[in-house]
Amino acid sequence: MQVRPAKVAAAIFAGASMLAVFFGLPSAARYARADDPAVSAKNSYEGDAGQAATGRGLFNQYCAHCHGPNAVSPDPPRDLRRLKRSYGENMANVFHFTVTHGRPDKGMPNWTGRLDDETLWTIFAFLQTVQAEP
Ligand code: HEC
Repeated sequence: MQVRPAKVAAAIFAGASMLAVFFGLPSAARYARADDPAVSAKNSYEGDAGQAATGRGLFNQYCAHCHGPNAVSPDPPRDLRRLKRSYGENMANVFHFTVTHGRPDKGMPNWTGRLDDETLWTIFAFLQTVQAEP
């Protein structure tokens, strides 16, 4: 029996598409990461002292009971003065991804629908002013 290459290619394509639907897409979503190039966040309030002062108040209102007053926490995973040391240039991405997805397995809430982007970036402007030297 003769197998036509076009048919083989079509069969492979169909099989691959089904695999992508069944395995590829869900796992891609599950493993979406903060350092994914598709996620690129920028704080428009960077260096804005007024926003940073407002952000300190918001931080102490919404985040301090877990992350410590003024972001000073004795527990390294919760100490948000370590963001720059941990993530360097990727710090804004990690921040934005984490606050908009949470880390449910670790007790970090997802703030989507509770705090808007403007509020979150205002908090981030404050956090930028308290980063420890690497
Ligand atoms: C109910 C407690 C709780 C509250 C409230 C909370 N967080 Fe968190 N957050 C955590 C915990 C616990 C972690 C550490 C998760 C881990 O170990 O990976 C964390 C991690 C983070 C991280 C990632 C830190 C890193 O080094 O990777 C960021 C950014 C963050 N929180 C921002 C915030 C902001 C901003 C707020 C306020 C809007 C907030 N969190 C409120 C519990 C909380």
